[in-house]
Amino acid sequence: MRELYRTRSTTDRNLHTVMREQRPRLLDLFCGAGGAAMGYYRAGFDVVGVDVNPQPHFPFEFIHADWEEPLRYLPGLWEREGVQYAIHASPPCQHYSTMTKKWGREDYHPDLVDEVRAAIFEVIDPGAEAIPYVIENVPGAPLWEPMMLCGTMFALESQGYGLQRHRIFESNIFLMPPAMCYHHLPALPVYGHAGGRSKRDGLKFPGIDAWREGMGIDWMTGKELAEAIPPAFTEHVGRQIMDPTGWNKTPDGVSFGPVCDPDGQPTPFTKGMFGVGS
Ligand SMILES: C[S@@+](CC[C@H](N)C(=O)[O-])C[C@H]1O[C@@H](n2cnc3c(N)ncnc32)[C@H](O)[C@@H]1O
Repeated sequence: MRELYRTRSTTDRNLHTVMREQRPRLLDLFCGAGGAAMGYYRAGFDVVGVDVNPQPHFPFEFIHADWEEPLRYLPGLWEREGVQYAIHASPPCQHYSTMTKKWGREDYHPDLVDEVRAAIFEVIDPGAEAIPYVIENVPGAPLWEPMMLCGTMFALESQGYGLQRHRIFESNIFLMPPAMCYHHLPALPVYGHAGGRSKRDGLKFPGIDAWREGMGIDWMTGKELAEAIPPAFTEHVGRQIMDPTGWNKTPDGVSFGPVCDPDGQPTPFTKGMFGVGS
């Protein structure tokens, strides 16, 4: 019996090690306090986050650095180790947001999407190798053929408010939303400050508990929540970029990504296909 127990536990331990070793990694650039990271973790990735600011609440391995440096060395290291991996980036969105445009303050915020995409393409050769990448941002950002997700597609709500939070995702993997938006409840406003009242309109705004429940995040401060994306979004995306049978490779190693960029030009994925732009 003792022998059996020992054998079992050794086997379990080995199995655990193998399973851990088999989990692909995800490099999470601009990770913040880890909303995106948690979703990818739940989809089956081991996440390494990178942020230029300290992130004491980030729940996984963390590199305190500018986004570009780890992007230049980590994927190469993982390739030499035979580790499967994907890259996600959430560059700051203020430059593209409606309010920034409304007040004409774009120049006060960095415009990083094209630069980040170009740097990722230098690292992973997106059309040929089929290493998945994802860039996330707000509607209005110059992403290529993005897919949009909203909190209401995942029934994220709290205290009678629905999370009408829209985020867009570009990838070299074809992405599908789980449902359509369903804005039947008043919007849960996860921006600015949690709580507060409007004496004039007699309104009381949802507090931090409602933000946490609505976002599906219980480890962040209000400021961190206002910047985060709900883990449900990246769990959904993560499951689609994690192809357990073929790691996203078609038989000839080609992945299917965005058909065209915002100017209608063919992307690296479609260039040369169907006689377009070759
Ligand atoms: C929109 S937030 C990311 C939110 C995060 N993806 C989440 O879901 O919780 C953008 C993050 O980019 C970081 N950031 C801004 N400039 C950066 C840079 N040059 N290099 C690395 N991180 C940067 C900010 O500190 C901030 O945490």
